[in-house]
Amino acid sequence: MANSEIMKDIVSLAKRRGFIYQGSDIYQGLAGTYDYGPLGVLLKNNIKNSWWQDFVTDREDMYGLDASILMNAKVWQSSGHVAGFSDPLVEDLKTKKRFRADHLLEEAGFPVEGLNLTQMTEIIQSNNIKSPDGNPLSEARQFNMMFETAVGAVDGDISYLRPETAQGIFVNFKNVVDSFHPKLPFGIGQIGKAFRNEITPRDFLFRVREFEQMEVEYFVHPDSWQINFTMWQEVIKVWAGKIGIDLNKLSELEIGEEDRAHYSQRTIDFQFEYPFGVKELFGLAYRGNYDLTKHTEGSGVDLAYLDQETGEKFIPHVIEPSLGVDRAVLSVLVSSYREDDLGGDKRVYLDLPFLVAPIKVAVFPLLKNKPQLIEKGRQVFSDLKSELSFVMWDDNGNIGKRYRRQDEIGTPYCVTIDFDTLEDNTVTVRQRNTGEQKRIAISELLSYIKNN
Ligand code: GAP
Repeated sequence: MANSEIMKDIVSLAKRRGFIYQGSDIYQGLAGTYDYGPLGVLLKNNIKNSWWQDFVTDREDMYGLDASILMNAKVWQSSGHVAGFSDPLVEDLKTKKRFRADHLLEEAGFPVEGLNLTQMTEIIQSNNIKSPDGNPLSEARQFNMMFETAVGAVDGDISYLRPETAQGIFVNFKNVVDSFHPKLPFGIGQIGKAFRNEITPRDFLFRVREFEQMEVEYFVHPDSWQINFTMWQEVIKVWAGKIGIDLNKLSELEIGEEDRAHYSQRTIDFQFEYPFGVKELFGLAYRGNYDLTKHTEGSGVDLAYLDQETGEKFIPHVIEPSLGVDRAVLSVLVSSYREDDLGGDKRVYLDLPFLVAPIKVAVFPLLKNKPQLIEKGRQVFSDLKSELSFVMWDDNGNIGKRYRRQDEIGTPYCVTIDFDTLEDNTVTVRQRNTGEQKRIAISELLSYIKNN
């Protein structure tokens, strides 16, 4: 099946089955915004919880944080975002629609690495590259991607919706050091919303204007940045596999100096093979002591770290694993989407790991008009629900259709209560991928599900 077809099928399944809806749908939407439906929010929370556990809770060198989205505008001046957080833009001279200059060049087959605005404009003009609507284009210029917002009632008091969660961590570095006196290396992790006024949001959840990030700023002695960089590189890969990202579709790209963000001395992009091309999934950057130095200068507060054992005082260096939640959701959906034939019938299923599946088990009474089956089924359902939380009750339609509905949302197990159950307290457990069915005693059900 063509890649564009697969993407269409995933977007349509996501909408139909309550994972992801276009934002502001009944008003023709708002480009670059998506809303997570009942199953989407479960999938997304499972991914975030797993990240929080592996990157923060399970580690002794990590602290958690939840900083404000709105920050003093001076934060963004010091961090360099006011001056430098921009993308190259060109305008269609007729329709006034705006496009990413680098994207148009790429689509026209020109390599864009390291090009400045003048070079982009020259290529556009000398090759007569037109807008997607066929009209001439303006010169390329920089466009700042931060959303500006008014703060309070005083005219002129502005701030920005944060374009990365990282700065909330840097401005709290001293607070955490003063409260906990951690030894280096240590890190602060945070999950939260970020906003970017993307010129051309596209490819479903891939490039959106409102998204979530899971970020760690890991503070190290300058001598040990390399070993810690490699350590986080490994942690990211292991976690990606755990949440169901197809590791055969994952690759790493060393970013050249001319294409790195203004703060970075080394960056690796973890790339994923999406149906629309191989593109960035997560990033890992060595930010040196750029941010803490800039905030020391900007705020006048000394953000140097004193090593109590050696007496050495210095501004720590930073390794930053930065993972987008929405791109994680998208790559998990792409990795798990399957179409096959089962028992002569075509079916679609999501091969989600148990860890992230929104619903872990579905419970079916064979018939909905038999009170004994319902009573027994409800008992099994509530026992499972009290242990696994995400359990669904479905008594609608024939069992085959109920299986297909659960396959499509990635439920690993379906449990059917039938007349034999009333006699011998056993149920049929059906496995999603293979369709294999087994008779299991109700008393063994939970341990069977947990251990398979
Ligand atoms: N603090 C570093 C930072 O923000 P970034 O590479 O600009 O680095 C980190 O962003 C991650 O955030 C990306 O790897 C991606 O997963 C996610 N991300 C960035 N822009 C996004 C967008 N417009 N839509 C969805 N996810 C985005």
